[in-house]
Amino acid sequence: MKKVVGTFLLALISWHTGVAQSDQKMNRFIDQLMAKMTVEEKIGQLNLVTGGEATTGTTVSTDVESKIRNGQIGGIFSMSTPSKIRKTQEIAIKQSRLKIPIIFGMDVIHGYRTVFPIPLGLAATWDMGLIQQSARIAAEEATADGINWAFSPMVDISRDPRWGRISEGAGEDTYLTSKVAEAIVYGFQGDNLAAHNTMMACVKHFALYGAAEGGRDYNSTDMSLHRMYNEYLPSYKAAIDAGAGSIMTSFNDINGVPASANKWLLTDLLRDQWGFKGLVVTDYTAVNELTAHGLGDLQHVSSLSLNAGVDMDMVGEGFLTTLKKSLDEGKVNLEAINRACRYVLEAKYKLGLFEDPYRYCNEQRAESIIGSVANHAKAREVAAKSFVLLKNANQLLPLKKSGTVAVIGPLANSGPNMPGTWSVSAELDKTSSLVDGMKAVLGNKVNMITHLGSNLLEDSTYQKHATMFGRTIPRDLRKEEEIIAEAVKVAQQADVVVAALGESSEMSGESSSRSELDIPKNQQNLLKALLATGKPVVLVLFTGRPLTLTWEDAHVPAILNVWFGGTETGKAVADVLFGDVVPSGKITATFPRNVGQIPIYYAHKNTGRPYGNSGDFEKFKSNYLDVSNDPLYPFGYGLSYTTFSYGDIHLDNDILENNGSIHASIDITNTGNYDAEETVQLYIQDLVGSVTRPVKELKGFQKIFLKKGERKTVKFEIRVDDLKFFDSALNYVVEPGDFNVYIGPNSRDVKVKAFKLL
Ligand code: BGC
Repeated sequence: MKKVVGTFLLALISWHTGVAQSDQKMNRFIDQLMAKMTVEEKIGQLNLVTGGEATTGTTVSTDVESKIRNGQIGGIFSMSTPSKIRKTQEIAIKQSRLKIPIIFGMDVIHGYRTVFPIPLGLAATWDMGLIQQSARIAAEEATADGINWAFSPMVDISRDPRWGRISEGAGEDTYLTSKVAEAIVYGFQGDNLAAHNTMMACVKHFALYGAAEGGRDYNSTDMSLHRMYNEYLPSYKAAIDAGAGSIMTSFNDINGVPASANKWLLTDLLRDQWGFKGLVVTDYTAVNELTAHGLGDLQHVSSLSLNAGVDMDMVGEGFLTTLKKSLDEGKVNLEAINRACRYVLEAKYKLGLFEDPYRYCNEQRAESIIGSVANHAKAREVAAKSFVLLKNANQLLPLKKSGTVAVIGPLANSGPNMPGTWSVSAELDKTSSLVDGMKAVLGNKVNMITHLGSNLLEDSTYQKHATMFGRTIPRDLRKEEEIIAEAVKVAQQADVVVAALGESSEMSGESSSRSELDIPKNQQNLLKALLATGKPVVLVLFTGRPLTLTWEDAHVPAILNVWFGGTETGKAVADVLFGDVVPSGKITATFPRNVGQIPIYYAHKNTGRPYGNSGDFEKFKSNYLDVSNDPLYPFGYGLSYTTFSYGDIHLDNDILENNGSIHASIDITNTGNYDAEETVQLYIQDLVGSVTRPVKELKGFQKIFLKKGERKTVKFEIRVDDLKFFDSALNYVVEPGDFNVYIGPNSRDVKVKAFKLL
């Protein structure tokens, strides 16, 4: 044992020495380079411009080539292909004075050319290995296409499904989002950032962007430090601790100071408390937007932003155009410019760009890797595992591979909508629609007939806004009743109806907040008409967020939530509907009964007047007159074609000594007729504290596979660290006392056992 420890120590010391040596080498290199740079060239490195392939804001970058020549650009994003990137890099290397390579970024959010499910769907797999693989594949493809910096993971916790960008993250939970963040960072960065197939991750949007008031995008956030530290900040920290090389500031105002000018956030917390050593970049024109926030003119806000701790300015060129003047006028100092420049150069150094600026440009690799058969197969597997079976009355699903199936609805025949929001590198014209994907899997075993059913939205202006960026859905100019009547005739010819309804991909994502979260009314009318035919109806629901499905849950026999499944959506839906894959996804954001329940999340506080769950309104208790407190579908919920029975929790000790650990185990049996996966979830409640504590917090989960009839014991370790939280003085503490451990298939249907921390 001693020898092992000794060897380990030696290895650790030599690893540290290695790291220190490579840091020293990097520092020397950058010192020498910076000694040659003019102030203008240093400021030039802080300028990040767009190559214009994807539009994520109203400002576009101009004169890019001449700025590169003049040393006025440090990075470019939204540009792709080895040839284009090589050509651009050549300008920097051959025509600029100091030949400093450019870093190339892109929003690689859920896949690159091969698109995986939207992040909210990815999280619903609860499979960190798969999520990591999806990021790895995205990195393989993007780096082969010349890109070395991914603007991902997005780890903003959101408890407000009105906010369209809830689709881009892992949902409402701090613990789960932190795990997903780590998986994505590892997937992108691997263990050598300088390798030709790894890329730098960028954690975003720092911070609290998901808590925008009213769910309206870009809106202010105002939050206690206590809540920030316990609930909203840990996911950013987890991504940083996993080694993320960069972080993006958010658009929003935080307790009165917008993130991109917030010194407390970007320096005191991020650098000084968390020890972050990577690059800080703003979001799109976020520096300029500080003027609209009310902080002053462009010169002033640019100096505020640099002084707060921002290193790189995305698109707005406030840094480029004003920092020299601010330096001359003493509004910023050279140390701040040097600091920012150093972080940009370090990122390039770590990516190996000084060694070989063309490392990421390899046509052959691009040719063989991007969109490969293997990548598509993985995308199909992940998509099927992201789907969540919300209801399956009388085991309507899986369907038989025979007879006539009518696939009806505005999402049935739209390939461009399948990749989902924030898939800027998807080949929309080459993505199969739901119907085509299903046909490819089912061949002529099933006679498939189809119809638009209804428009996406009755209001054509709303539909226009909801189908931007090429995500078209054909529009039928007739009255909705006429379209529906025709669709009903199609349904009448079928044995079963698949209603492909919900949101278009651009109804979620950036700048896509909604105040109503139902399936649009005209689509609901279609659904009612389809149900009235008496045919069995399966609702295949497309959505980028939790919707309010109270009526659908009461009336539709089967609901499969497929989010936006990416490139292979159609095939994956066929896999699940027809039973080749048993659904196992579970939602990671609570589905409310109505919009008035929002914010609704499982890890809420108890209040001083908790509702007793009588099912009825309780006067003078914390509840509503017109709706119950319960969500429609709780966090962690999702059905399978099989059933699982959970035994009681067994604790190996009901006393946890400080610094020790105990184990909770539970028997789970597959009691149904299908081999299937199940995600077993462990929650903890701290019953007495110096501050109020959530009624439950996820602290562990395991995904297991059980053959029909099989039983497995699942064992969790509970460590003192799992019980820690930030107290009112923001000390990270653990307080002795009584706790409950809950284990179950979701956050609601749990078994419980008590233990004590000494
Ligand atoms: C978004 C970011 C994105 C950036 C660059 C912004 O509008 O908020 O998430 O990374 O654009 O495309």
